[in-house]
Amino acid sequence: MNDTTDIKHTSQLTSGDFTEAQEPFALFEAWLAEATASEPNDPDAMALATADADGLPDLRMVLMKGFDARGFVFYSHIASAKGRELAANPKAALLFHWKSLRRQVRARGPVTPVTDAEADTYFATRPRQAQIGAWASEQSQPLESRLAFEQAIAKETAKYAIGAVPRPPGWSGWRIAPLQFEFWHDRPFRLHDRIEFRRSAPDVPWTKTRLYP
Ligand SMILES: Cc1cc2nc3c(=O)[nH]c(=O)nc-3n(C[C@H](O)[C@H](O)[C@H](O)COP(=O)(O)O)c2cc1C
Repeated sequence: MNDTTDIKHTSQLTSGDFTEAQEPFALFEAWLAEATASEPNDPDAMALATADADGLPDLRMVLMKGFDARGFVFYSHIASAKGRELAANPKAALLFHWKSLRRQVRARGPVTPVTDAEADTYFATRPRQAQIGAWASEQSQPLESRLAFEQAIAKETAKYAIGAVPRPPGWSGWRIAPLQFEFWHDRPFRLHDRIEFRRSAPDVPWTKTRLYP
């Protein structure tokens, strides 16, 4: 899908039967729009699963900061657990659960780092204090005390008192290109609706299957 016309067209399915959708990103866009209107906070929050070098799964929430036909983008610290796990095993699964809508979306596939230009562009949109926090935080490393963190923030605040805050070299983004994409919607008595899209590679057409709940 590389054409916004397609997205608009298929999005209209959300008012009808979502199991008729033929393209997952357009359906996702429609569901995210509804979640944005209904969720009390963070409709763009997703659980992100990675696995370490031993194959042990790891899981945490991140904010999804962009999506298109290439996949889902999130940002974090390269030296964090997720950053290290993705360096060793560049595959991930993600999950959105919108409680107010009783909907779940899950996807998984290979992960690639975003370009420096893409990360710079997004970093520049962050609030200044969040930019400074990215410099001050050694994410997922042991922290002696809250005071030590506040001192690090004060130091970086003084360092970047004037002008734009550049993106720290250890802070960037990744893109998950789904090969599997599932939509789940609650129905009474646990007789839920589920559809799954699969493809063998990002440039191969999707195959859709309805699944037992
Ligand atoms: C709703 C929510 C959104 C979050 N968004 C992000 C995010 O976009 N990027 C990030 O690095 N951490 C985010 N976090 C914090 C992560 O869940 C996690 O604590 C942190 O990234 C360290 O994870 P790691 O040690 O597994 O790498 C978020 C947490 C919550 C609860």
